[in-house]
Amino acid sequence: MSARQPNGSIRGERPLVADRLVGLDHQIASGKPSVAGGWDLPADLDKDPAVIPQLADVRVPPELKADIEYRMSLYPDARSAVIPALRAAQRHHGYLSTPAMLQVAAVMKVTPAYLSSIASFYDMLNEEPRGRHYVYVCTSVSCHLSNAKAVYEAIVEAAEEAELGDTDIREFECLGACDMQPMASVDGRYVGPLDVSDAPAIVAAVREGRKPLPGRGLEDSDHMPPGAGDPPPQEEAPQ
Ligand code: FES
Repeated sequence: MSARQPNGSIRGERPLVADRLVGLDHQIASGKPSVAGGWDLPADLDKDPAVIPQLADVRVPPELKADIEYRMSLYPDARSAVIPALRAAQRHHGYLSTPAMLQVAAVMKVTPAYLSSIASFYDMLNEEPRGRHYVYVCTSVSCHLSNAKAVYEAIVEAAEEAELGDTDIREFECLGACDMQPMASVDGRYVGPLDVSDAPAIVAAVREGRKPLPGRGLEDSDHMPPGAGDPPPQEEAPQ
């Protein structure tokens, strides 16, 4: 016999995926928490187990489906592809919206809650809209000692002056390129060492969809870390 459950679904019937996403919607609406919301609440043992959305019920854009399946094929355990798959969905949708999570979950055959538990941990995965472009300015120790905070503030100011939209500009923890300090990741392109005077050029490049600061990106063949091209120090002649 079927009975109405606290979450509105009926035991004995297949629950709607939408019923399962109420908690996810709430988390998205309230912004990314510093710790996963509800971690200290007791489990509701009357709840039905989470469901995996079925591909037959979820329309997944073919190019996104192919992208996720390709990434899954690269690992012995397909779940190892969760982060690349979420990044693919974020590129496609702009952020990890509820439909985006559903689509990844359906292709990967995992629950949306499993995906959210991972997405909420990583700063580069956004469960709320933050902009299709990003400028992450590292203000960790090495970069901080090289005036990174002033660079960050100059980029924010230049973006405001240029009314740059659809761009997530943030301070970021160490991006692993300390020899370029102070540096930033502009849509994934590492540039540095930066000066406050670089801010307008970075903003203009983002606006125009160009690579910022040619010759100063980590991927540029002519990029050299600071001091790499300096002549070797002269030995003092013995007195
Ligand atoms: S401290 Fe900035 S990249 Fe490491």
